[in-house]
Amino acid sequence: MVAEMTERLLADAGIGAGMRVLDVGCGRGDVSFMVAQRVGAQGQVVGIDRDVQPLAAARDRARELGLSNVTFAEGDLGALSPELGLFDVVVGRRVLMYQPDAVAALRRLSGALRPGGLVVFQELDATMVPASVAPLPLHERVHHWIWQTVEREGADIHMGFHLATVLEQAGLAVERVRAEAVVQTPKLVHRTGAIVRVMLPRIVKQGVATEAEIDIDTLEERLLGERAKANATYVGDMVFGAWARKID
Ligand SMILES: C[S@@+](CC[C@H](N)C(=O)[O-])C[C@H]1O[C@@H](n2cnc3c(N)ncnc32)[C@H](O)[C@@H]1O
Repeated sequence: MVAEMTERLLADAGIGAGMRVLDVGCGRGDVSFMVAQRVGAQGQVVGIDRDVQPLAAARDRARELGLSNVTFAEGDLGALSPELGLFDVVVGRRVLMYQPDAVAALRRLSGALRPGGLVVFQELDATMVPASVAPLPLHERVHHWIWQTVEREGADIHMGFHLATVLEQAGLAVERVRAEAVVQTPKLVHRTGAIVRVMLPRIVKQGVATEAEIDIDTLEERLLGERAKANATYVGDMVFGAWARKID
């Protein structure tokens, strides 16, 4: 569901054929691959991440997908190599929220943009969630595990609401900010259990919950059971998207 939102954001921001795009904090390359399809054979995508592990996976996936217009490099978005050259667009998903100084990070990124170039970011935000009409205590507890963990790791869990301000403070002209909800219905299986499974070591390390409290192998089923029993619809994630332009 978030993937659909990302695709729409990239399209609406105007990313298209022939563009040269930098994907910062690219992880396993999900956004880089979407952009690679959009820019086509005449375009180019460079994904950078400071963590070599997801980068190795991204390279393997690019090879499997047969994409020749995307490359991946290790690096910190705050210290881009000048050898990368200038880009038409800088994109990032779930990455600004992890920067200790998002304004400074954006200022440095805009140095890699050609004049008139675009910055496009998609960030999660915990301000308005969790939300449901009927009480869903297990959903609320799981939400708390996830967000308290990232907050203890230093993330800004209100980055969606801060997006317009940080883009402007970085000297960029904001063209659009919007937010979409990830809606979980009573019957639809959602991947919250899978997300918690991936985050489990971090949740335990931050002292937010124990493995026994989480009981990962039964979690997805218990969440679905709670929604089905209450016949309740639940919003666990708000996804903010924004694009802004380099004006000088
Ligand atoms: C939550 S993941 C998102 C991955 C990817 N953008 C996506 O949405 O699928 C955040 C990624 O940003 C990377 N990251 C965070 N801060 C970074 C920085 N300052 N420079 C480079 N990579 C960074 C992390 O290593 C991680 O792979």
